[in-house]
Amino acid sequence: NPTFPSTKPKILVARAIFPEALAKLEESFEVCSNQSDKILTPEELQKALSEVEGALVAGSERIDASALSQATNLKVIANISVGYNNFDVPAMTAAGVMATNTPDVLTDTTADFGFALLMATARRITESEHWVRGGKWDQWSIVNNPLGMDLHHSTVGIIGMGRIGQGIAKRGLGFGMKVIYHNRSHLSDADEQACGATYVSKEELLRTADHVVLVLPYTTQNHHTIGAPEIALMKPTATLINIARGGIVDDGALAQALQEGKIFAAGLDVFEGEPQVHPELLKCRNIVLAPHIASATEKTRRAMVDLAIENLCAALAGKRPPSLINA
Ligand code: DGY
Repeated sequence: NPTFPSTKPKILVARAIFPEALAKLEESFEVCSNQSDKILTPEELQKALSEVEGALVAGSERIDASALSQATNLKVIANISVGYNNFDVPAMTAAGVMATNTPDVLTDTTADFGFALLMATARRITESEHWVRGGKWDQWSIVNNPLGMDLHHSTVGIIGMGRIGQGIAKRGLGFGMKVIYHNRSHLSDADEQACGATYVSKEELLRTADHVVLVLPYTTQNHHTIGAPEIALMKPTATLINIARGGIVDDGALAQALQEGKIFAAGLDVFEGEPQVHPELLKCRNIVLAPHIASATEKTRRAMVDLAIENLCAALAGKRPPSLINA
């Protein structure tokens, strides 16, 4: 019997995804898939993109003019991530490539994690565990146990008040916290009321918050938006939580502040140059470290993959993807 070349559109799946999702894609597409999960080099990515009409990628793939330079048939790149600082959106638009992300489906999961990281940091949970495992716990003590900072009836300051920031605020309200926020723009009155949140300047937030939570998108303009001068404004009893992106915080300055007791503690899910972690941060006692897992629940990661696939399929069917960035 003669064999005919596949007429299915070719797509790239740049990172490992759930096997059922991959099988579903294979029904409609000729899939070039990197299930090894080893991040493609820029050269490998450029070559792979030159051969396909669509691609599913994650934050690990930098999509810029160079990555797109040979991608003559490419119509869409769907990020399996809400943050899209790995995309050079103007370059994608110039190349006629649709860019999409995965908003909404991860909001509550990420806000849950942000709150968990805040609690673990303020109440010294991982440090306490090391203490117990290290055999240092010899008796209950009023003063000689790891004493933390309260969340209830404290002030949480949220920088970046998008969907996830608002999710943190609502969780804070449940703990009787006062919520202040700083954002590019004010929320509507209705949204401020729903979050019980008051807008303040960044300086006032840093000066008055007991807990500062960073949930803003990373752009070149807000690189190191929290560095030594900003940390110096914070209370010595304050905590700093970063579930946004590495690069927003100057990790070297933070490590120094933690070592010198300028602030009480920090909880970090994201790092400059991750998966590398600044060596001075690793030396700090008063820190909780996580490997960029704020959206990592089984259900949410499946929902993110499904939404990315929906975006890709819509674009390749000539329709508007539900979460198109470069509209
Ligand atoms: C997101 O969706 O932006 C998460 O941080 C994973 O990259």
